[in-house]
Parts: sequence; C-alpha cells; structure tokens
Amino acid sequence: MSALLAAKSDPASAGSWPAAANLVATWLERRERVDTLLESLPRSLHGANRARCQHLVLGVVRHFGRIEAALGRLIAHPPRFSTRAVLFIAGFELIEAAADRDDGRIAKIVHHAVEQTKSLASPAEARLVNAVVRKLAPALARPAPTLNVDAEELAEYFSHPAWLIRHWLAQFGPESTRALLEWNQQPAPIYGRWRADAEPLPDFLKPTRWPGVLEVESGRWPDVEPALKAGKLYLQDPSTRIPVALLAPVAGEAVLDLCAAPGGKSLLLADTMKQGRLVAVDLPTVRLDRLKENLSRVVGVEVALVQADLLENIGVVLREHRLPAVFDAVLLDVPCSNTGVMRHRIDVKWRLQAGDFKKHPQQQLSLLHAAARLVAPGGRLVYSTCSIDPEENERVVAAFLASKAGGPFVAAGQTLSFPWTSGHDGGAAFRLNRVG
Ligand SMILES: C[S@@+](CC[C@H](N)C(=O)[O-])C[C@H]1O[C@@H](n2cnc3c(N)ncnc32)[C@H](O)[C@@H]1O
Repeated sequence: MSALLAAKSDPASAGSWPAAANLVATWLERRERVDTLLESLPRSLHGANRARCQHLVLGVVRHFGRIEAALGRLIAHPPRFSTRAVLFIAGFELIEAAADRDDGRIAKIVHHAVEQTKSLASPAEARLVNAVVRKLAPALARPAPTLNVDAEELAEYFSHPAWLIRHWLAQFGPESTRALLEWNQQPAPIYGRWRADAEPLPDFLKPTRWPGVLEVESGRWPDVEPALKAGKLYLQDPSTRIPVALLAPVAGEAVLDLCAAPGGKSLLLADTMKQGRLVAVDLPTVRLDRLKENLSRVVGVEVALVQADLLENIGVVLREHRLPAVFDAVLLDVPCSNTGVMRHRIDVKWRLQAGDFKKHPQQQLSLLHAAARLVAPGGRLVYSTCSIDPEENERVVAAFLASKAGGPFVAAGQTLSFPWTSGHDGGAAFRLNRVG
C-alpha cells in the first residue's frame, strides 16, 4: 500500500479516478480489506496514476466517518454504490483542499465529480452529485473540534468509531487520545532500510533521527522499485527495530522467529546476526509466500521456514525438520488489534470490535506460553505487539510471569512506543530472560 507517488496531481490523471471509484464502491458495499482491494488493481494502471488511485482510496477510507456524516445530513436516501463512491472521493478531495486552504480547487472538484458520474452512472445522478458536492464543501471545511468535546464529536471529525475513542480516553486521557487521532489521520511517510552495505546510499533515501532508518523521497517509485526487487532496500517503519533490538541476536546464535510472516522482522534479525541459524515459523497461509521471499534475501545466516501452528504441533514439526528443540533467542510477534499502526493500516479501525480487546489477549497469552517452552535455559524471549493497549501488552506479560510457566523467566527490559511521543508507529516489546 504505497503512497510514494501520491502527490496532489491533477485529479483527472488518466484512469486513476474511475479505478478509485470502482474500488471505493466495492469497499462501501462489501468492506473488503483495503490492501486486498488495492492489490486487485490492474497492472496497466501504473506509476503516478496507480499511486493517485491508491491515494484516493486510502483517503476515503481514512476519512470515511466524517464524509459519511456530512453526506447523511445532505441526502435522505443514499444513491447506488457507484454514485456514492463518487461522492466519497469528492468528499476526500474537498477535505484535502480545505487542509491546503485551497478554495480555488473546489469548483474543479465539483466539475470533475459531475463529469465522472455522467460516465460511471447517469446524467440524473450527475445532477444529484452536482447539488450535493457543492454543499459538502462548507460542511467538510469546518475546523477541528476543541479538546473538551465528547467522543461522538471526535469520532465524526477524526473518522474513528466512538467506542474506540471512549476506550482510549479511559486509558490515555483527552490530550493523548486527541494526538493519536490526529496522528492516525495523517498519511504516513515511507521509511526503509538500506541493506546493500557496500554500495553508496541512493539520493532518494534521506537520513532520519532514527539510526539506520531512511525516509523514501516521494515521487521516486521508478528508482525505488528496482532497489526493492534487488533486495537492497526493505520498506519498514522505524518501530520494527524495537523488538529486534531488545532481543539483540548475535552471530552464531540459534534464533527462532515465531509468528514470522510476512517476515520483515525475520530479515532484520538475519541482517543483525549476520551468521548463525534462523528458524521462522508461521501458519500455512498465503502470508508464507512473502515470508519465503524475504528469507530468500538472507545472506550469511542459515535459514529454515517452518509451517506450523504454535498452539498445536510446533514441537513435532521442529523434530521432523531436525531443528533444535530450544533456541538461544526467541521472538514472538503476536497477532493483535493493530492499534499502534492505524496510520498505515487505515481500515483496521472500521473492522476492530470491542470484543477484540478480550479475544486477542487470550490468544496472545496462549502463544506466549507456547513460545516460552522453546527458549533454552539462559536464553531470552521477546514478546511484541503492534498494539498500544495495555490489555495486549503489560497485562499479557504480567499474567504470564505470574503463572507457573513464567517461573523460570524474569522481566529484562521493555519498550512501549506511542505514536504521539515516539513519532513512529506504536507497539510494545518485552524481554524475558530465562534464568531457570
Ligand atoms: C503480527 S503478524 C507477524 C508479523 C511478522 N513478525 C513480521 O514482522 O513481518 C502475526 C503472525 O502470527 C501468525 N500466527 C497467528 N497464530 C499463529 C499460530 N497459532 N501459530 C503460528 N503463527 C501464528 C499469523 O499468521 C501472522 O502471520
């Protein structure tokens, strides 16, 4: 899901608008995952047009709540999905124009939406679009609410479910919640890691305040793509380094990466160790293809990819593959609510349910118990999430340490990252040393 080329180009850039309208109509109707929808874009849509299309789709999903509320006040009966998609995309463009204080763009946005509706739907619907988009402009241009408003008002303006905002208000308070909402609504810069140590850094990669993390200059996809394909560049948020740094794998160790797919951290573990053995485990799903591809880029470290269910048959499968039964260092990067990475994974907020904050910790604790059995005496385990919520972080680790299985482990460091203070994706990592 790259927005690398998503400059504010002419909205009429060939093919991008109708393709975006098509995907937005599908999303409105079926709520499919946005990354899956974007992957379905035809290869013939490439370069700046593809990026513009992605930008429009992501913008609609990011601002869906705000646009939907404004449209709801203007139309009694929603039109069919193709026309609704036009209204939502125009709504997103109006939000962008308002953010840029560019009133001159409004007439162009209205005109373009009307013309698109004529070809995507009908002249009658184009008349509706004309009337509605004109009224949408002032509705969407209103300033952000003040700090002390209720969750419903924040939910509408910042396009998040109100229950989620109430959940965060209870744990983080109004200022941090507000900062998090603002953060989630901003398009994310693209960060990467340059793996070709022997080669000079290309000019499209700029240093950041995080060591080893580079920001990819926008509009440079033609340069970026070959570097990615050659395995010289890996796109990765600065937050990815945290659990790997806490595990601190060293040359010659046997390292186990549990819940490894798609393998961003596997590759970083291998690049950090440089020599030794890395075993990456995940369930037999489509995500394994990406894991396999990432592991194929590893140099110097002996790698094994294992398809296994950590909660069922991991011990048997490791034995069958003649792999060690226990490891010096184990990373467990569990499935979670993804509340720390909502700026990147923008549809997560619309899929998340209150019950997930109970369901995930149960699974996470079971996975932690299973992972602990694979740590050698004297070895270490890092439990990590992309969640900022204590239920999935501190509380899971505390429950584990309080259990019988947690007896041989001691807490040996943790990093909690909140986007509004760290300036990158949120998450948490906890190191547990096996002392018994
Ligand atoms: C947060 S993702 C891991 C991301 C990965 N560590 C990376 O850096 O690219 C969580 C992974 O846990 C895997 N998973 C969930 N339940 C599992 C289980 N019972 N056994 C093994 N893997 C599991 C999922 O398939 C998913 O790929």
